[in-house]
Amino acid sequence: MTSIPPQSQASTNTPVLIVDDDPSMRAALRQWIRLADFETIEVETTDQAMANLGPDFKGCVVSDVMLDGEDGMTLLRRVSELDSDLPVILITGHGDVPMAVEAMRAGAYDFVEKPFDPDLIAEVVRRACNRRALVLENRALKTQIADSSSLESRLIGNSPAMQALRHQILHFAQTDAAVLITGETGTGKEVIAQALHDFSARKSGPFMAINAAALPETMVEAELFGHEAGAFTGADRQRIGRIEAANGGVLFLDEIVSMPMALQAKLLRVLQERKVDRIGGHKPINVDIRLVSAANVDPREAVASGRLREDLLFRLNAIELTIPPLRERGRDSMLLFDTFLNRFAVQYGMEAPAPSAQDEAFLQTYEWPGNVRELRNAAERFVLNAQVNPQPLEILVTGRRDAVSPIAAGGLKELMDAYERSLIEGALRRHDSKIADVMRELNVPRRTLNEKMARLGLSREKTGGSDVPENS
Ligand SMILES: Nc1ncnc2c1ncn2[C@@H]1O[C@H](COP(=O)(O)OP(=O)(O)OP(=O)(O)O)[C@@H](O)[C@H]1O
Ligand SMILES: [Mg+2]
Repeated sequence: MTSIPPQSQASTNTPVLIVDDDPSMRAALRQWIRLADFETIEVETTDQAMANLGPDFKGCVVSDVMLDGEDGMTLLRRVSELDSDLPVILITGHGDVPMAVEAMRAGAYDFVEKPFDPDLIAEVVRRACNRRALVLENRALKTQIADSSSLESRLIGNSPAMQALRHQILHFAQTDAAVLITGETGTGKEVIAQALHDFSARKSGPFMAINAAALPETMVEAELFGHEAGAFTGADRQRIGRIEAANGGVLFLDEIVSMPMALQAKLLRVLQERKVDRIGGHKPINVDIRLVSAANVDPREAVASGRLREDLLFRLNAIELTIPPLRERGRDSMLLFDTFLNRFAVQYGMEAPAPSAQDEAFLQTYEWPGNVRELRNAAERFVLNAQVNPQPLEILVTGRRDAVSPIAAGGLKELMDAYERSLIEGALRRHDSKIADVMRELNVPRRTLNEKMARLGLSREKTGGSDVPENS
């Protein structure tokens, strides 16, 4: 039978900092504390003690009250200024009651009288270290909660896919492994790359983005690798490239598939060796970077068609995060639209207009080829137009005047039909008119689906092809 371990137990290699200027006392303390399965660090003065401590220190401090120079009480004060939850155990002279009282009042975790009982010291240290483990665990939990709620407002969406993605981001942000983010245009690749930086230990380091496709080919190399003065005509000064400038932080390689082949080879070398050669430079410069890259096409297809080096892909995709297109995120489009409406309303000092039932039906059934970016633009226009020239969302987005207004044409019945039609149409398109898949997605029996399609004038052929409008 297994028993449930008590929560927050100090692990066996937890460090205990021993502060004592008497070598024989240090040796005795070391012996008893190590026997109790803790690691020990031994120092003689308060300054040396402070040099070994930080807010992340996992164990506790055991210090004699009497020390050369600053005494144990001063150490206690300095430690509580650093972290008031870091336990300090003081060793006092036998019968020195006033000192013991003062120590407890000043916030000592406990005190032990000399000559001490080895079992007692081991027991006090164990309790202090367990207490410390609990404090650190609670702190970590609190930052995690704060991080996840702030990530939720940046990467909006309640669909299972988005929830899982947020979870993965917070998890992988703690590592240095290379992440490749794939997803259609406007799905949030840059938002995720930035989050992987902002929620990581590198958050105070730079976030350097490079989009090779957006730079003229003649400039790309100098931009990435930098150059020495006089490296080529026009290079009158030394220049630090973006890879070097990302040192200590995150390098975000956007649209990797559009990177020229020659550049891919050079980049591969940087990633293999973690060194950059400035153009015209003589010695390579070490760089410490975390790599995040993005592709809006399937990277494996890009490898197959010779646009992306396979060895480069393997350096980039230790972790692969795939963002689903907006049309596959269920009601997220409503949530996103609502959030953007409110944000733009605040930004423009206007009232947030309420979408009509017809607008909501459109939100859920439109294909959103430009994904969140397109939806965000639509929300902005919706707010700006609301007072002077209110229009159905569908017209704002597609410009198709004819497609509109089942409401104008009739009422609830027409609206329901239109909604039902667009849902079925969307599902047929997504599944290449495979009826079995459509039945599964919409959760309707074949017969009901056939009847509805007949009534709404839908056929498999009619919806087979995609007539998605161009990205706005
Ligand atoms: N889940 C989301 N929640 C809130 N805003 C989002 C979300 N996803 C994307 N956005 C917003 O949508 C816009 C497009 O996102 P982003 O630039 O990250 O897309 P992308 O995948 O990099 O697109 P592209 O491939 O075109 O570069 C940005 O304004 C971004 O802030
Ligand atoms: Mg982008």
